[in-house]
Amino acid sequence: MKRAAIRYVVPTFGAPEAAALGEAFKSGWIGAGVYPRLFEKRVARAAGMPFAAGVNSGTAALHLALRLAGVEGGEVLTTPLTVPATSHAILYNEATPVFCDVEPETGNLDWRRLEERVTPRTRAVLVVHLNGHACDMDPILAFARERRLALIEDACASAPGDGLYKGKPLGSMGDLGCFSFSGLKNLSALDGGAVVHRRRAWEQRLSRLARLGQAVGPDGPLPPPRGVAELGYHYRISDASAVIGLRQLERWPEFSGRLEAIARRYHEGLAGLDSVAPPRDQPYARRSLHYFPVRVAGGRKAALRAALSARGVETGDWLSCNHLQALYKPYRRRLPVAERLAREFLYLPFHPRLRDAEVDRVVDAARAFARKPR
Ligand SMILES: Cc1ncc(COP(=O)(O)O)c(C=O)c1O
Repeated sequence: MKRAAIRYVVPTFGAPEAAALGEAFKSGWIGAGVYPRLFEKRVARAAGMPFAAGVNSGTAALHLALRLAGVEGGEVLTTPLTVPATSHAILYNEATPVFCDVEPETGNLDWRRLEERVTPRTRAVLVVHLNGHACDMDPILAFARERRLALIEDACASAPGDGLYKGKPLGSMGDLGCFSFSGLKNLSALDGGAVVHRRRAWEQRLSRLARLGQAVGPDGPLPPPRGVAELGYHYRISDASAVIGLRQLERWPEFSGRLEAIARRYHEGLAGLDSVAPPRDQPYARRSLHYFPVRVAGGRKAALRAALSARGVETGDWLSCNHLQALYKPYRRRLPVAERLAREFLYLPFHPRLRDAEVDRVVDAARAFARKPR
């Protein structure tokens, strides 16, 4: 298969990750050993929460977080502008997604729309910090608290502790926060996820739910089964993933420094273009750097994507509106802002290995496209 010369996402794995994996091989633990616990402690610390449960994907994290929030049979207020995983997690829990429109500036759930969709069956609000940029959490928190609704944060587009809202880490403001460490993230554990929270009682419960419903005792990595009290899942994170995740967390300051420099270079290079707009942050947010989303005006996203591809630049075009997917037809209503933004967002190459000359090539290609008459 012919590869684009400038890839959109490349995991930053090298000698440190290979050494970490070697350590796990030598220890004999690559499946259900000691590393997940270490990883969980490190994630909790980074995310600014007392507890973290390691799982094998962000999707699993969302499924279990909503399970703990007790949404079954009820309604969940949420955004349609996200990956399918966010909305699927509501359906896995046999709850009803109630899609609300988003803010035009950020694409995040618009708290002004919540009031009109809340009913006596509403159990929770599930927000997504889209593209690693914080939702406006203060009014959302006030709304949820006033009505005693659970608040779950999908922070899967943020590295733990990296994205902030008024100085607070994403995932640490609601009842439960969810992270992803998939191979498509700049902080990867091959595949993996975590649920962060502050309730001791949820620690055992999450551990059980991720291990087919079996409790894990204090007597080592492979305890005798303690009986199955409820239907759990095979969601635990493996040692191989956890040991790589640990190493990537250590390296994150180095990665994020490079990503900030790349983001600055993109901002400078794309300044002044109307048709290809770099992301603009709200004063309350510090964006986590997993993605570099641009907004392409005038229905020209596909054309820009093709123009960049012709110059060997790969882009990501994965964001869509879940309420428009066939599966979600029963929950569909018109959400004009989300529908417009889904047509506009395009993701430029963005990973720590990207060289300055490559960023400049992407910028030149985008500028050439913007100059072209329609
Ligand atoms: C906002 C959001 N939610 C959920 C997920 C699902 O995470 P995973 O792919 O690890 O299951 C992702 C992954 O890209 C995401 O970006």
